[in-house]
Order: sequence, then C-alpha cells, then structure tokens
Amino acid sequence: MGASCFSIVCLLSNFLRRSATAAGLSSQTVEIDGDTTIHFWGPTAATSKPNLVLIHGFGPPSLWQWRQQISFFAGEFDVYVPDLLFFGDSFTNSTDRSEVFQATCLAKLLENLQIHRYSVVGTSYGGFVAYLMAAASPEKVEKVVIASSAVNMRRSDNDRLMKKAKVDKIEDLMLPTTASGLRTLLDLVLFRRPYMPEFLLNDFLDKLYSENRKEKLELLKELRIGQDEVVTISPLSQETLIVWGEQDQIFLLEKATELNKLLGEKAKLKVIKKASHCPQLERADQFNNIVNDFFVHGFNMY
Ligand SMILES: *[C@@H]1O[C@H](CO)[C@@H](O)[C@H](O)[C@H]1NC(C)=O
Repeated sequence: MGASCFSIVCLLSNFLRRSATAAGLSSQTVEIDGDTTIHFWGPTAATSKPNLVLIHGFGPPSLWQWRQQISFFAGEFDVYVPDLLFFGDSFTNSTDRSEVFQATCLAKLLENLQIHRYSVVGTSYGGFVAYLMAAASPEKVEKVVIASSAVNMRRSDNDRLMKKAKVDKIEDLMLPTTASGLRTLLDLVLFRRPYMPEFLLNDFLDKLYSENRKEKLELLKELRIGQDEVVTISPLSQETLIVWGEQDQIFLLEKATELNKLLGEKAKLKVIKKASHCPQLERADQFNNIVNDFFVHGFNMY
C-alpha cells in the first residue's frame, strides 16, 4: 500500500483505511485455529461500549461495504468489521465452504478476542452468517440486523435472478470478470448506478474482485441456503430487525415480508425507498438511523 498507488481504487482503499483508523479502528489478524486466519478492523483497545459486528456480503472488501457505517457507529459501539473467509485477508486451509463454517469462524474470532456479548449486522451473504451466529449462540448474540438478505431464499429465487441477469450460472453474476459483467451486477445491486467508465470498472475488477476467485466460486456452489424449494428457518430468540431496499433486484421485497413472517413476533421489517440491494450505501443516513434506533430503543419505538 502507499508507495505505488496509481489507481483510483487504490487511492480510495487508502482513504477508507485512513477513515477507519480515524474512527479508532485498526487492522488486525488473528489465527483462530491451525488452518484459519481472520483479518478484521476492530477497536485498537476494547472499551466498555457495547460490541457491534458488521458482516459484509459478496463483493468488494469489508471497508468498502461498510464505509458509511464505521464512523457513525464507532462513537457508541466497539465496532468489529471482519473479512469473511476468502475475502480481504481472511483465509483457511480447511475445505469447508459452507456459510455455517463462516459463522463458526466468526464466533471463534470473537471468543478469541474475549468478546462474549455482541450484536450482529449482516448484509446479503453476511446476513446468512449473522442469522446462523444468532441461531447458534443466543447467549452471545444480543440483537440481530438482517439487511438485504433472503435467509429464506429458495432454489426458484436463484433461477429467477439468473434469468433476470441473463446468466447461466450464479457466479457469472456474483463474480464478474469483465467490465460489462460488473455493469450488469451494479445495475442490479444499485437503484441508480453512477456513471463509471470502463477503465474504472476494470480497476475494480482487478483490485477488488479477483482475489481467491476459485474459493469464492466454491463458496457460492456450497451455499446451503437456497438449495431447496422448501424453506425451513426457525425464528430467532433475539429481537431481529430486517432492513430492505424497496427496489432490491437481487432479493425482491416479497422475500423480506415472507422472512418477517417466518421469523415471527421478534422480527420487524423496515423498508428503505429508492434503494436496491445496498441501502447501507445508497441511503446511508436512513439505514444508520433505523439501525441505531433499533439498538438504542429496541422495538419500543416502532
Ligand atoms: C495454509 O497452509 C499453508 C501451507 O502449509 C501455510 O503456509 C499457511 O499459513 C496456511 N494458512 C492458514 C491461514 O493457516
């Protein structure tokens, strides 16, 4: 980093790292078992503030996905922003590619850091991980935010998405290798895609999408959520906030209303207008206020 930084993506990456540092976070790596190393951004020194874990989805590194949340929440929370396995600098030699394994590894990381109580916010793929962490450890996970994440995804939802994106395989959409492939993805995940010239798209592909491609393909193939037509998810014991972009093209809003029903009384849904699959970036102020109100007041205010 630094010395030979001639691309826009590289400059932005440096800017994001500096912003995280300014918010009191630092880049840290923990070996959680003989096979697995997890990288995360977390408080340089833990305080007595409540702990908040932000779990990214498929896409660019975690700081890019949570760039509008880190400094907003760092005032009131000890914020942890891990890289899921095969994203950023997290890696494992284990052959397990399931989202259950991602959840187990994050729980181990927090255990390792002596953090025994925390809330989780997960977006998209990260929402699957957040749900699984909450289901596995009700004594540790305090509150849950599931953002743009159809934990209730069916095989047919996947088929619909591939048809819409005009791809044969889901990885052709989620792991683009060409500028036009990335444009297709951005058109679906953003309500309004900003103009991006080809060189910039290529810069993104090169710097943000190319790492551990083989393993990421395996993560998509081994996904357990979305394999079946029958959805079996149990309600969580925690208060759960579901946040969704009204125009989400990856997981339609109807998935959110169904999820809200499946999760029962402890779940509430908040819909953000003029946002697609990334309301935390597209409508950051609204997203932050909704999530913050939930953490501060619970459901009393709804
Ligand atoms: C994976 O195995 C290689 C070769 O043994 C080793 O160098 C590397 O540190 C291991 N990675 C992790 C994350 O444990």
